[in-house]
Amino acid sequence: MTASTQKSNHQDRADGEVSGPTPRHPDSRLEADWLFLYEKLPPNQWYSADYVYKTSGWLNIHADIRKRQRILTHISDAYHSGDIECSEYRAQLSPRIHQYIFKLHQHHSIEDKGYFPQFIRMYPQLKSGFEVLDRDHVHLDSLLNELQGLNSQLATSEAEDKALGGQLHQTLVDVSVLLSQHLTDEEDLVIPILGLN
Ligand SMILES: [Fe+2]
Ligand SMILES: [Fe+2]
Repeated sequence: MTASTQKSNHQDRADGEVSGPTPRHPDSRLEADWLFLYEKLPPNQWYSADYVYKTSGWLNIHADIRKRQRILTHISDAYHSGDIECSEYRAQLSPRIHQYIFKLHQHHSIEDKGYFPQFIRMYPQLKSGFEVLDRDHVHLDSLLNELQGLNSQLATSEAEDKALGGQLHQTLVDVSVLLSQHLTDEEDLVIPILGLN
């Protein structure tokens, strides 16, 4: 999080009026009507002593997902820039992708079956917000299936396949872009619920 977003999550309008809280992701899909809890518990308080014991579990899982994603992209970049050989690329990337996909499916399943329905029961006015997150999970699932198929090819390939490496890289980028938007929007919606209940 940048210092400026920590300082204020309100958007200052040209006329000097404060227009209300703004979500953190520049391409956020969250609507102003869904931010009434975010306004009460903005991100600069999520780690304060009053809330951290309720918010850190969720935030730590997301931090772990972001770290795994960064490592995958780093390995793929190293291979494409010629810093590591194909055999090392395969040995480093393939098991990590396998583990990453497993972790993400596990995380989404808990959210879809447990947390999101519970949060909608608590705050029916946030239903449309959770539908955005649900759709992200569906989209992410299809990208992860694609990634899994490519990763299986990588794991069993004997000769170097540059085209496969290129496809894998693009799919990792696609997952990363959607995931970054998804995790941030999800936190802006969910963390205030956890902190304030
Ligand atoms: Fe999610
Ligand atoms: Fe999540």
